[in-house]
Amino acid sequence: MRASAPLVAPSILSADFTRLGEELRAVEAAGADWHHLDVMDGHFVPNLTFGPLVVAAARRASSRFLDVHLMIADPLTYGLECAKAGADLVSFHYESTAHVHRVLAALRGAGVQTGLALNPATPVEVLGPVLNYVDLVLIMSVNPGFAGQKFIPETPDKVRRLKKFLDGHTGRAILIEVDGGVSADNARDLAEAGADVLVSGSQIFGAPDYREAVAALKTRTSGP
Ligand code: DX5
Ligand code: ZN
Repeated sequence: MRASAPLVAPSILSADFTRLGEELRAVEAAGADWHHLDVMDGHFVPNLTFGPLVVAAARRASSRFLDVHLMIADPLTYGLECAKAGADLVSFHYESTAHVHRVLAALRGAGVQTGLALNPATPVEVLGPVLNYVDLVLIMSVNPGFAGQKFIPETPDKVRRLKKFLDGHTGRAILIEVDGGVSADNARDLAEAGADVLVSGSQIFGAPDYREAVAALKTRTSGP
């Protein structure tokens, strides 16, 4: 369990792209901590979004931490492009490449923090050999591809297993992020299970009051 509230990272996937700069400022003013940018290629996932150009635009519009989530078949090429475009952290999917170590090392070399994302069916134990190269683990709580999907209820258990696994394997802090279907209904469970960062698209950008929506995800737990 964690004593402090989790960080909240609104996913711009659900923002109004005609006013992206304003939307970024609005969620910042509402208490959000990071910006989460979902890059999809229509191959690794059945949806297509945006690439480094929009990462660069977000960089110009905000000085906040840019958390880029690649759901693409070529994380090496475009991960490096996103690093150049101003990302602070680049996550890619364990399932998207045979060369997980190579991509992590290349991203480190490019000066960005690294994240490894796990699909719902991927066990946390696959992380073992590459933990030294990872700053954040992203647990998908839906199948990646679309905003507004239903939260997979086994996720808090998976987060608990990950927390235990990380505690047993590393001397340094590796953040746990959860992404997909996160809402006020599951935020407390996730925080208590060990989540450090909660991503939310539709629950924040679809809410009439961004401040209330962000606050609803920042539940404090009583843990140590
Ligand atoms: C899903 C994306 C998520 C998504 C979250 O593939 O990675 O970041 O935008 O949206 P909600 O919070 O609406 O599930
Ligand atoms: Zn995401």
